[in-house]
Amino acid sequence: MIRVEDLHRHFGGFHAVDGASLTIETGSITGLIGPNGAGKSTLFNVIAGVLPPTSGRVFMDGQDITGLPPHELFHKGLLRTFQLAHEFASMTVRENLMMVPAGQSGETIWKTWFQRSRIAREERALRDKADEVLDFLTISHLADEKAGNLSGGQKKLLELGRTMMVDAKIVFLDEVGAGVNRTLLMTIADAIIRLNKERGYTFCVIEHDMDFIGKLCDPVIVMAEGKVLAKGSASDIMQDEAVIEAYLGTGLKNKDMVGA
Ligand SMILES: Nc1ncnc2c1ncn2[C@@H]1O[C@H](COP(=O)(O)OP(=O)(O)O)[C@@H](O)[C@H]1O
Ligand SMILES: [Mg+2]
Repeated sequence: MIRVEDLHRHFGGFHAVDGASLTIETGSITGLIGPNGAGKSTLFNVIAGVLPPTSGRVFMDGQDITGLPPHELFHKGLLRTFQLAHEFASMTVRENLMMVPAGQSGETIWKTWFQRSRIAREERALRDKADEVLDFLTISHLADEKAGNLSGGQKKLLELGRTMMVDAKIVFLDEVGAGVNRTLLMTIADAIIRLNKERGYTFCVIEHDMDFIGKLCDPVIVMAEGKVLAKGSASDIMQDEAVIEAYLGTGLKNKDMVGA
């Protein structure tokens, strides 16, 4: 579904992404791992149109999407989750979901304004859709809760829920498990698996927790120093000499690799 060819993203003289090439197969839940600073988030940001690349190309279903702005990619079904904006904290969980189709589509303020009055008629359908999403994520009991009152993990579920309000094809998740407790992490993992199996979503997931990656992802892509180091099943990756070295070499995060 996604093909990245010789992608570079430099910050001044620093090569955060330094000639990365990879593919993400349709229907997969692809993991993206690597030591801190490997360039994973930068790669995501370039693919998702948040940052322009210095050079290289990104294709979606064979079509060149390099440098397209996020709202155009959104219309193509390519989504990355964003942390909930502060202004949405005082809205309920259901309202947050109902905002997505208008709020993320990149319409101008006027268009959105007119669209809102049109949407008033469609509000019922939107509300039903939101309730269906909440039911899918097993958080119906939080529908009327203010988003600002959710725990970190519940917010992550809501972020995932936002991708379900539109017809997503591929969703990029950057450290969705960061700061989330074990139980909720497994709820998130289950939701991702069900979205993949039942709705046909393709995922690309950055995560440090190797239990999470092992349970969820096949294949796993390993990045180090801006390049793709290896790609394979989670168990193959964990036995790969070059991968182990990349983690040990940084002196950081190697505990993640041995599941400590
Ligand atoms: N906007 C930026 N300006 C300068 N350097 C950046 C910027 N974003 C990321 N970097 C640098 O690029 C490298 C890769 O960062 P990042 O993509 O966030 O890595 P990862 O997500 O794998 O931890 C890091 O050394 C980081 O400091
Ligand atoms: Mg990162």
